[in-house]
Amino acid sequence: MTILVTGGAGYIGSHTCVELLEAGYDVIVADNYYNSVPEVLDRVEKITGKKLKRYECDIRDREGLERIFSENKVDAVIHFAGLKAVGESARLPLLYYENNISGSVTLFEVMEKAGCKKIVFSSSATVYGNNPIPYREDMVTGDVSSPYGRTKHFIEKILGDVYNSDNSWSISLLRYFNPIGAHESGLIGEDPNGIPNNLMPYISRVAIGKLEKLTVFGGDYDTKDGTCIRDYIHVVDLAKAHLCAVAKILGTTGIEAYNIGNGKGYSVLDIIHAFEKASGSKLNYVIGGRREGDLPAFYADASKANKELGWTAQYDIDKMCEDTWNFQKKNPDGIK
Ligand code: NAD
Ligand code: UFG
Repeated sequence: MTILVTGGAGYIGSHTCVELLEAGYDVIVADNYYNSVPEVLDRVEKITGKKLKRYECDIRDREGLERIFSENKVDAVIHFAGLKAVGESARLPLLYYENNISGSVTLFEVMEKAGCKKIVFSSSATVYGNNPIPYREDMVTGDVSSPYGRTKHFIEKILGDVYNSDNSWSISLLRYFNPIGAHESGLIGEDPNGIPNNLMPYISRVAIGKLEKLTVFGGDYDTKDGTCIRDYIHVVDLAKAHLCAVAKILGTTGIEAYNIGNGKGYSVLDIIHAFEKASGSKLNYVIGGRREGDLPAFYADASKANKELGWTAQYDIDKMCEDTWNFQKKNPDGIK
């Protein structure tokens, strides 16, 4: 079976390529390397001892995508390619709509033309907005606070319309919670350009001495210690969820959304303390003001993925922090 992985050189995509190759799938990656480097794919091959096929291709490039489908028999697509910085999306909404939505529509059109109607899409817990916690898949979605989040909501709806128009599609919408951690080898992990927006890469850059201190965004929330609560999920657990989703869509038709989280909430201070334990040293941090748009707390009800995909998260926050730190130590200057 051959799986096309868009955005396969990125953080979650690269870990998913490892799992796919180890499970015996043939893997094709299409990535424009906007937020990644080809070296990541060399490292995926090093970890697995297997080769993947790669195309430097933008998902907005119809001819480039058509070439991939004409040169290969693709059985299913895992669609990671997209821009993901929440703050940037508020400054550059048209870039986000163009890249994420136009790119996705082009991909779906090319798939349809090629007769490949099986797809796993990277959605996000952000589509739940202000719903009560824990989030469940049957809740109404779309009350989102950023253009980025809206791209995820719209693409879910577009795929819903595609399925309604043609029931031979098989679509899995995976709503990720907060992926952190890295592959145990320390060869691949999260390696954002510039100053990180997200908590874990920021913490690990403070720990390695590249950034001076972490600012905790808000210490006055109505939570157990005043800091925000999130559902952190090891990226390898997340990657494995894609394997379960692919296995399911290869044998069925339909459209389903699944929460991919641990089902447990941890505060920012919990994460800082777990990281300090993993790294063996104190982290320099201060409590600052709230970040606009942050919800106080959310976590998943992940029972649907367990029941229907046979997937459940294995790794705890200690392991997530250990693997993040291992990757950071082995790659102090990132992956070049
Ligand atoms: P990432 O930036 O590391 O990976 C995305 C990859 O897509 C990169 O390699 C980038 O170069 C590529 N890409 C972007 N635009 C492209 C285009 N037009 N054509 C081809 N390639 C393109 O991000 P990630 O953390 O691995 O996230 C993967 C997916 O999961 C994204 O869609 C993201 O929105 C979604 N997601 C991520 C998180 C998170 O916290 N990391 C949470 C929820 C959902
Ligand atoms: N935080 C800090 N300091 C920082 C960075 C983050 O205190 O320097 C806090 C945030 O306030 C939040 C928590 O750490 O409470 C996690 O923040 P992240 O930015 O790592 O993650 P978010 O929960 O804000 O967002 C993530 C993804 C989005 C996705 C969203 C919902 O980055 O793509 O989860 O799934 F939309």
